[in-house]
Amino acid sequence: MNVDLRILRYDPEPAKPALAAGEPAAGAAELTGLPSTPPKPHWVTYKVEADPMDRVLDLLIKVKAEQDGSLSFRRSCGHGICGSDAMLINSRNRLACRIRVDQLGKKISVAPLPGLPVVKDLVVDMSGFFGKYRSVKPYLINDQPEPERERLQSVKDRARYDDTTKCILCAACTTACPSFWARPEYVGPAAIVQAHRFIFDSRDEGADERLEILADEDGVWRCRTIFNCVDACPRGINITKAILEVSSAIVGRRG
Ligand code: SF4
Ligand code: FES
Repeated sequence: MNVDLRILRYDPEPAKPALAAGEPAAGAAELTGLPSTPPKPHWVTYKVEADPMDRVLDLLIKVKAEQDGSLSFRRSCGHGICGSDAMLINSRNRLACRIRVDQLGKKISVAPLPGLPVVKDLVVDMSGFFGKYRSVKPYLINDQPEPERERLQSVKDRARYDDTTKCILCAACTTACPSFWARPEYVGPAAIVQAHRFIFDSRDEGADERLEILADEDGVWRCRTIFNCVDACPRGINITKAILEVSSAIVGRRG
């Protein structure tokens, strides 16, 4: 089948125009290689021969290999594990390696994740996203002497935070969140999910530090329970429930 694959292309650093041999550089534009107006994002449609079981990632790889080698996108595992190929596909945040042509139809549009600066084409700058992730101390905090063997935990205690261990940090949730679009300083659902994973771990002793951080004006109170994050999560995590549990823990700590 033939698929129309529309891709939002954006290259903020245009290549310098080559001067013909002996041609004098007449002005500033020629000297710097910069165009007089900055480039704008623009849609490009590629006709791609596809199998219904192809994933959008397969189509992007095909376009890059056969039609335009300058197309840029991230991917690594190709199987829904690394979280690097989240993009806006037919107006929803999804992993390109998890969504198939037969689920989307013959007209497919692909754009970068909303709300993050674009580096090039479908590649966004994730440094702010990972900065927020680091801000919630996403690691085990326990100053007790190390036991001889592992730190034991009951099945019930392990189950308490099982859902939030599934996060692959793809950013689909945070960039689908209107509260994040309105206020990019909001720590966002992904960072709260990561904090939840440790706050409710019976072996961890850093819950108070994390709850203090998340009680900030750009913490959990920015959530308006819109549920976009839950719809976007490729791992099926009940993100809103996790956020509400963290909010309740903050309130319980105050009481
Ligand atoms: S919670 Fe889900 S959508 Fe958000 S970063 Fe983790 S895996 Fe991605
Ligand atoms: S390429 Fe790793 S999750 Fe899609």
